Amino acid sequence: MNVTSLKGKTALVTGGASGIGRATALALAQRGADLVICDIDEAGLASTAEEIRTLGREAFTQRVDVASAEQMEAFADAVHGRLESVDILMNNAGVAIAGAFLDTSLPDWEWIVGINLRGVVHGCHFFVPNMVRRARGGHVINVSSAAGYSTSSNLAAYNATKYGVLGLSEALWDELRPHGIGVTAACPGVIDTPITRNARLVGKLDQAKMREDIVRTYQRRRYTPERVAQKILEAVQKNRVVAPISPESWVLYYLKRLAPGTLRWVMHELGQRATRRAPAD
Ligand SMILES: NC(=O)c1ccc[n+]([C@@H]2O[C@H](COP(=O)([O-])OP(=O)(O)OC[C@H]3O[C@@H](n4cnc5c(N)ncnc54)[C@H](O)[C@@H]3O)[C@@H](O)[C@H]2O)c1
Repeated sequence: MNVTSLKGKTALVTGGASGIGRATALALAQRGADLVICDIDEAGLASTAEEIRTLGREAFTQRVDVASAEQMEAFADAVHGRLESVDILMNNAGVAIAGAFLDTSLPDWEWIVGINLRGVVHGCHFFVPNMVRRARGGHVINVSSAAGYSTSSNLAAYNATKYGVLGLSEALWDELRPHGIGVTAACPGVIDTPITRNARLVGKLDQAKMREDIVRTYQRRRYTPERVAQKILEAVQKNRVVAPISPESWVLYYLKRLAPGTLRWVMHELGQRATRRAPAD
């Protein structure tokens, strides 16, 4: 899809109140798109909407929990009451859990699968059929992660959801191609956003010092959500199905393809290092 000028197009972004969702919504508005954004954070939503309007674009907002099929259906009804279909659908809302599988409870699984995986399914289920029916093309962006193709023993739950999003996106890329609809699984690496503050830490990692370590590591990486937004738009322009974003995402991507054993060793060492840094009980 040509994203040089998006005048007359409408883009929908879930999780648009913060981080990568907010930055991409603003980047889309800068290129001329009107925006539909949802989130559970109403104050953040209002602030993103205000910035979009300052850029001279329209912003329709709704408080929606993407994990809820009922809320997503009501959201889709509200959007489709205003327009036939969105042009760009970005399923971005997401959360993280860090810690061992053995320390991850079923409610933890319900939480992360509900938002990170079922949330993406809901977005596609309720918005893609109208894109297909309207028959004017478009693009679906699903936010996966470098954790969508590289695993760590401290990220089993997050890995499971992000691998799922990548697989769904690859299948959709093929299915929607005849309809002129592109699909991109965006795979950021270590990006400085509030996700580290809101992540659930479980088991040995559930320590204030650990949280500070993670937050500091992400801050020191200094890769901003605004840079991610630009890379996502480049990937949409090329209809790239899997889009590693930051340099570390590219390194992991090529290791996975060319040297999967080495990748497993690297990820094991990184996981061990994180666990060793956790203060003793
Ligand atoms: N930050 C990173 O390093 C990184 C790396 C790879 C992938 N990602 C992915 O990028 C996406 C965006 O994350 P971010 O880093 O911008 O984090 P963020 O916390 O800044 O933004 C996530 C947004 O999703 C919203 N959200 C959470 N639960 C929701 C729900 N149930 N319904 C609707 N909205 C909900 C939050 O309120 C927040 O506004 C996520 O899918 C995340 O997994 C982030």
